[in-house]
Amino acid sequence: MNPERIIAGLDIGSSKTTALIAQAVGGGDRSEPSLKILGVGQARTTGLRRGVVSDIEETTKSIKKAIEDAERMSGIKIDTIYAGIAGEHVRAMISKGIVAVNGDEISKADVDRANDVARAQPVPQDRELLHAIPQEYSVDKNQGIRDPIGMIGTRLETEMYLVTIGASPAMNLRKSVERAGYHVRELVLEPLASSLSVLTEDEKELGVALVEMGAGTTDIAVFHEGKIRHLGTVNYGGNNVTSDIVQGIGVTQADAERLKEKYGCAYEPLVDPTDVIQLPSTVAQGDRHVPREVLAHIIHQRMDEIFNLVLSEIERAGFAQRMNGGVVITGGAAAMQGVAELAADVFGTGVRIGSPAENISGLSDSVDAPRFATVVGLALYGAHRSAAGFAPPSGRHRALAGAGVDRFTKRIKVWLEDFF
Ligand SMILES: Nc1ncnc2c1ncn2[C@@H]1O[C@H](COP(=O)(O)OP(=O)(O)OP(=O)(O)O)[C@@H](O)[C@H]1O
Ligand SMILES: [Mg+2]
Repeated sequence: MNPERIIAGLDIGSSKTTALIAQAVGGGDRSEPSLKILGVGQARTTGLRRGVVSDIEETTKSIKKAIEDAERMSGIKIDTIYAGIAGEHVRAMISKGIVAVNGDEISKADVDRANDVARAQPVPQDRELLHAIPQEYSVDKNQGIRDPIGMIGTRLETEMYLVTIGASPAMNLRKSVERAGYHVRELVLEPLASSLSVLTEDEKELGVALVEMGAGTTDIAVFHEGKIRHLGTVNYGGNNVTSDIVQGIGVTQADAERLKEKYGCAYEPLVDPTDVIQLPSTVAQGDRHVPREVLAHIIHQRMDEIFNLVLSEIERAGFAQRMNGGVVITGGAAAMQGVAELAADVFGTGVRIGSPAENISGLSDSVDAPRFATVVGLALYGAHRSAAGFAPPSGRHRALAGAGVDRFTKRIKVWLEDFF
C-alpha cells in the first residue's frame, strides 16, 4: 500500500472526537478521488468550549484515544492528520483582485496573478488565512465567468472567498495534536469538510444550504452555482435540546441524553398520542411515566427555534430564494426522527438528511451516520490533496510530454482551488 495515500482525518467536536484512517483511491486522472475506509475511532471530548480548545491536556487525551482506536482498527500507524476547525472566531469575506491581461488571450498566468492579488489581503497578527476560494471572474464588463482562460479581454477581475480564523484557537488545536504525538498537515473549516462528504455536485449547482447540527453549535454553509457563497453559525445545538429535556421532565443530563436518542422526535405530529415512556427514577420517586408526546413537544419547540434562526441567517445572506437544491441537514442531531419533516416545514424546501455517502468504500458502514460527516469530509479533502500532489510530473517527463502535460498540470491546479 502506498503510504502517501493513507489519509487521516480528525474531527474534534464539542461532544466527541473522531478519527478516521482511509486509503485514497483514484483521483489521479479524470476521476474524483474516493476513500476506502480502514479504521474509525471515537472518544468523548472534554476540553472544548464552543468549538475552541479550552483545556489542552484534556483535548490531547481525547485525540490520543480516538486516533489510537482508529489505528488499532486499521492496523496502520499514522503521523499526520487533516484536522477540522470551527467556532465563533471564523470570519469570511469576499476579496477582489484586478489585473491587466498580458496578451490578447487570458492565460493561466493571468488568472494566477489575479488570484494572488485577491489573496494578498493583509491578515492581522491575531488571525490566520485558512481558505482562499476563487468564486468567479469578470473579463472587461462581462461578469459571472467561471473559467476565463482563453477568453479575449484587457482587464481580468477575480472574486475570492477568504476564510480566516483566530490565530490562538488554531495554535491551541495544533498544540493539542502535537502533544498527542501527531502532526497537523492542514486545518480545514468543518462545514466545508462536511460539504465534501454529504453534498452532491448537482445540489451545489442548484443552490443548497448545508445545516450541520452538532452538540454546541449549528453551522451553515450555503452553496450556489457550484461554489461556497455564505458561512454562518447559530450558537445552539443538540446540547440545548438535552438541557430542555432536563428542565422539562426532571431527569439528569445523562438520562435526558439517553431519552432523546432512544425516543426523541423533532416533529410532534409523528408521535402516537398513546405512546408512553418509562422514565428512569429513584426509589423515592417510584415508577415514573411520561407521554412520548411531551418529550416530542419539548424537542420540537427547541429545534423549531434553531431552524428558524438558521433560516433568518440564510435570509440575511440573501439566499432564501436561491435554494433550488433544498436543504441538507447533517451532524449528530440530524439522526433523530422527525428532523427532516420539521425542517421541511420551516424552510419550505425539499429537505434530506445527509450521511457520508459519496465516494466511499471499505468499512463504510462504520461511518454511515450524520455525525461522521465532518471526519469523512476531512479525509476526502486529504484525498483530493494527495491526488493533486501526486499528479505533477517531474521535470524530465514534462520535457518529453510537452503541451499535453501542461494541460494536465493546469487542470490539477484548478482542482486544488476548486474543492468548495
Ligand atoms: N440518535 C440521536 N438522536 C438525537 N440526537 C442525537 C443522536 N445522536 C447524536 N445526537 C446529538 O447530536 C449531538 C452531537 O452531534 P455531533 O457529534 O455532530 O457534535 P460535535 O461534532 O461533537 O459538536 P460540534 O460540532 O457542535 O462541536 C449531541 O447533542 C447528541 O445528543
Ligand atoms: Mg461537529
